[in-house]
Amino acid sequence: AHRYAVFGHPIAHSLSPEIHQAFAAQLGIHLRYETIDVPPGEFEEAVRRFFAEGGLGANVTLPHKEAAFAMADERSEAAQRAGAANTLTALVGGKVQAHNTDGSGFVRDITERHSLDLRGHDALLLGAGGAAKAVAWALLDAGVQTLTIVNRTPERADALADAIGEPARCHTRYWDGLEGECFDLVVNATSIGIHGGTFDLPMSLLQDHSTCYDLSYGAAAASFKGWATAAGTRYFRDGLGMLVEQAADAFEHWHGQRPDTDPVYQTLRQRLG
Ligand code: ATR
Repeated sequence: AHRYAVFGHPIAHSLSPEIHQAFAAQLGIHLRYETIDVPPGEFEEAVRRFFAEGGLGANVTLPHKEAAFAMADERSEAAQRAGAANTLTALVGGKVQAHNTDGSGFVRDITERHSLDLRGHDALLLGAGGAAKAVAWALLDAGVQTLTIVNRTPERADALADAIGEPARCHTRYWDGLEGECFDLVVNATSIGIHGGTFDLPMSLLQDHSTCYDLSYGAAAASFKGWATAAGTRYFRDGLGMLVEQAADAFEHWHGQRPDTDPVYQTLRQRLG
């Protein structure tokens, strides 16, 4: 069978094998999809070995997305914008192509599954790491009116806004300088929830119709959901839909066919709550 894998550290609880196997079953494609746990210093060597042994494609998650981008010979525009890759493809002659489906998966989940038209929206992005970068570009592509980026380390937010280079539409604020602002959409792309921290933000950021979206899911999304609920959101979304959509975009990149994501999403949602 054709071999694929997801690389991460840790990776044992990854849902990617189940998602890709479900897509493959839908479309009658035979593949093997495994998890490979490697510590940061051994990532590139492990990917090259996997491809040399016949692996055709690799998904990449924390903490390897920047290393995946760095080792590639060819890079899609989405990967270049994020400076990170979640999808690596073996090319002839041992070369490697890097792609990133986090931004497209995020926008597909929010616009199609959750039926939110982003055009004309004022969006606030919390965070400026690899995940935030992919999402920032995707939000602007999807037509938000303004994008405000805040980050604990303000220099990283400024660097992202500079790279985007649309000062009329995309700008930064200090984390503690948000008093009096309000937004249609607030996206958490920080790892605060993963580390068990809490969100110190004004409740007045939200209006009645505002959506709060956390890129993480499960226990990691509880902290931001707690803030969003206290601030009165009626529309909280976690990142489970994005997980399935970014996998579908990687699947289509490799196999040239688009799977139906809804049944896979529903199965996971029922299990994970
Ligand atoms: P990823 O690739 O998942 O985006 P990352 O690059 O490590 O991971 O980014 C993590 C994000 O969470 C960053 O925006 C980080 O802020 P800094 O750039 O200041 O490090 C943010 N973050 C992590 N812990 C945080 C905390 N306790 N408070 C505020 N922001 C935090």
